[in-house]
Amino acid sequence: MKNILITGGAGFIGSNFINYLLSGRDDISIVNLDKLTYAGNLENLAGAETSKNYTFIKGDICNCDLVEYIFRKFDINHVINFAAETHVDRSILGAEIFYRTNVIGTNVLLEAAKKFNAEKFIQISTDEVYGSLGAEGLFSEKSSLSPNSPYSASKTGADLMVLAYHHTYGLPVVITRCSNNYGPFQFPEKLIPLMIINALKGKKLPVYGDGLNVRDWIYVLDHNKAVELVLEKGKPGEVYNIGAGCEMKNIEIIKLILSILDKPENLIEFIADRPGHDRRYAIDSSKIRKELGWKPVFEFNEAIQKTVEWYLKNNVWWEHIVNGQYRSYYKLQYGESLSK
Ligand code: NAD
Ligand code: TYD
Repeated sequence: MKNILITGGAGFIGSNFINYLLSGRDDISIVNLDKLTYAGNLENLAGAETSKNYTFIKGDICNCDLVEYIFRKFDINHVINFAAETHVDRSILGAEIFYRTNVIGTNVLLEAAKKFNAEKFIQISTDEVYGSLGAEGLFSEKSSLSPNSPYSASKTGADLMVLAYHHTYGLPVVITRCSNNYGPFQFPEKLIPLMIINALKGKKLPVYGDGLNVRDWIYVLDHNKAVELVLEKGKPGEVYNIGAGCEMKNIEIIKLILSILDKPENLIEFIADRPGHDRRYAIDSSKIRKELGWKPVFEFNEAIQKTVEWYLKNNVWWEHIVNGQYRSYYKLQYGESLSK
């Protein structure tokens, strides 16, 4: 039996992962430790809460007493660390919490995993640790670490600590570095849900710089499957890049969303660029494809359509968010009120 501590499981990717894992198998038990920051939402886990294999604990991964208590009480033998501060723009407004959760929090989890002899520790990292690409080339696992934002620097710090625990103590760690995700339950500060919601509200769509920055997009369910494979077959000490080979310019995605929603392109507004804005991310995921047999199954045009439909159907979910404390962040970031 795998007794898995999943951290950050009330966020976007973590909640999709828990819902996915619980719907497919009963040979696992999950403890979800989540601080419920602005990005954590238990509504994402309505299905999971009825499962006998699932326990939620509200708390901070930086709290070592709590983390050790959970290891002891639930006989934890696997860790999947999704918990993080994740938004680049927020990290530009204030980096400290990023350092605290992403670096110190990861270290607390590593210490507990070492103390309780965990069989596997999976660190959910990001392609942003590699920095920015020019027009050519892909990030491989061997690319140098060259983070540019406080967010990516904190994730890199965590990755280095995770690898150090493998080299120094033999802790069976695995790191995944995935590209930009999209799908249900993504917090509306991120590009795709922000653009969908603003278009639905008839608000301006704020495009940073020239809109030609490139991201490599993956549907969250494809990411889930990759993490499950890493849980089963990932080799200790290894790093696996995860990406669906779907490079898109921001402006292309925004126009696609407008066309799906049948909204006019004059909603687009080019605004000041993000400081230090990485130009292009693109992932070489051949290692996980070859070694673990993973491949993405969702095609971008269909999955973005499904995603837009999800936000159309689940307006109550995002209206709670946009009418809550998110409003003050939005005002700070975009200089205007979220309400019309
Ligand atoms: P998210 O912001 O939607 O969710 C983060 C979750 O972590 C929230 O539920 C939050 O409450 C929780 N959390 C934050 N600080 C915590 C703390 N100190 N203790 C316990 N819980 C805490 O993030 P996401 O988009 O779901 O990303 C999940 C992971 O995947 C992150 O580690 C991120 O770096 C990584 N990642 C994300 C993407 C992406 O496109 N979203 C891509 C690659 C990697
Ligand atoms: P984001 O979703 O914040 O992900 P990341 O920066 O981690 O890749 O942003 C994706 C891209 O969209 C990035 O190039 C910045 C751009 N962007 C905008 O142009 N406007 C916005 O309001 C936001 C949030 C992002």
